Amino acid sequence: MANYAEPSSVQLPAALRPMLSLHDFEGAARRRLPRPIFGYIAGAAEDCASLRDNREVFAEYGLVTRVLRDVSQRSQSVTLFGQRYSSPFGIAPMGINALSTYRGDLVLARAAQQAGVVSIMSGTSLIPMEDVARESPATWFQAYIPGDQARIDALIDRVERAGFSTLVVTVDIPISANRENNIRTGFSTPLRPSLRLAWDGMVRPAWVLNTFLRTLWRHGMPHFENSFATRGAPILSPSVLRDFSARDHLNWQHLEAIRRRWKGPLVVKGLLSVEDALQAQRIGADGIVLSNHGGRQLDGAASPMRVLEAVVQAVGPDYPVLIDSGFRRGADVLKALALGARMVLIGRPFNYAAAVAGEAGVAHAIGLLRDEVDRNMAMLGVTACHELGPQHLVRRHR
Ligand SMILES: Cc1cc2nc3c(=O)[nH]c(=O)nc-3n(C[C@H](O)[C@H](O)[C@H](O)COP(=O)(O)O)c2cc1C
Repeated sequence: MANYAEPSSVQLPAALRPMLSLHDFEGAARRRLPRPIFGYIAGAAEDCASLRDNREVFAEYGLVTRVLRDVSQRSQSVTLFGQRYSSPFGIAPMGINALSTYRGDLVLARAAQQAGVVSIMSGTSLIPMEDVARESPATWFQAYIPGDQARIDALIDRVERAGFSTLVVTVDIPISANRENNIRTGFSTPLRPSLRLAWDGMVRPAWVLNTFLRTLWRHGMPHFENSFATRGAPILSPSVLRDFSARDHLNWQHLEAIRRRWKGPLVVKGLLSVEDALQAQRIGADGIVLSNHGGRQLDGAASPMRVLEAVVQAVGPDYPVLIDSGFRRGADVLKALALGARMVLIGRPFNYAAAVAGEAGVAHAIGLLRDEVDRNMAMLGVTACHELGPQHLVRRHR
């Protein structure tokens, strides 16, 4: 069964017609977003070595096809934590989405829920988590661990009260990374009013009108709503300092405490080592996300694709290992599944898609990737994701 209709460019809004792959959204978003906002999304740490590795790694795996296997009845759906999802990919948590498009977190969550794919709301977001959970209850919530136990407990309790089922705890930010790019483009949190910022806005009047002023008019100045149980700093201020409360003292006991308090599925995001994966499994996390944060934290950190096989072998085939950083094509997704990943998360392209055309943009991006996965499954000779395995890959030697 060809599950999905060919994408029809006829009904698409004009802005989306040239968007033929996830790559295409980047240039279109660059033309729509003010320089600091685009720079924040696109940027990575220091020399972008990890950012590059996240893409280059895929060329090291060739796909091995099987033929004449009757692939007319195929499905790319996967089951995770008792829920069935229509595709083996989802939307990674990204902070400050509400500056990419009007009500960005709601836009991404809605589009994902409509398509039946995973979407994870970032804790560094500008829309109260309760609004997203109410509108799109299938959304997962991602938290950074606040620095002390009382605030950790209060945040976990708030996430539960809001109604989220799955909690993702990101652990790869003991301290802020060195993103020189943010300084060069004039990005900071909060944004500091300046002539340069005003100019960056003036040359993107549609964004100022449709995203920034519309938000101010209808909802007031956006604040960091979800880093803690209480409201944080505004997104624009000449003087307010954001509370980055120290996280470099955190250890596995903090995660154990979260495990005891959070009763639903718990996923630990931001691991690269076999030992950390085993530790997360031992303390009772229900799954992990292998990630180098899209190259935004430790520059030089390996692409998680390089550790995937060893991690899956250590934790066993039944333990959910998710992965992100650099995935852009259906073939990339299938390579990770063949190495044992249960699901792939994708960040920037969905953010750009929201900037280009809001919910329709995100739906289109999901559709493009879904079609790539579907076509590639047929050409690989598989009818379900669980059929993929190491037999579908060959390592290319440099
Ligand atoms: C603009 C932006 C903001 C992000 N904010 C968060 C965040 O708040 N929490 C988090 O766990 N990861 C965050 N990430 C990392 C993503 O969840 C994900 O690991 C990464 O984007 C995957 O790489 P990709 O963008 O190449 O697909 C962010 C990434 C981007 C691009």
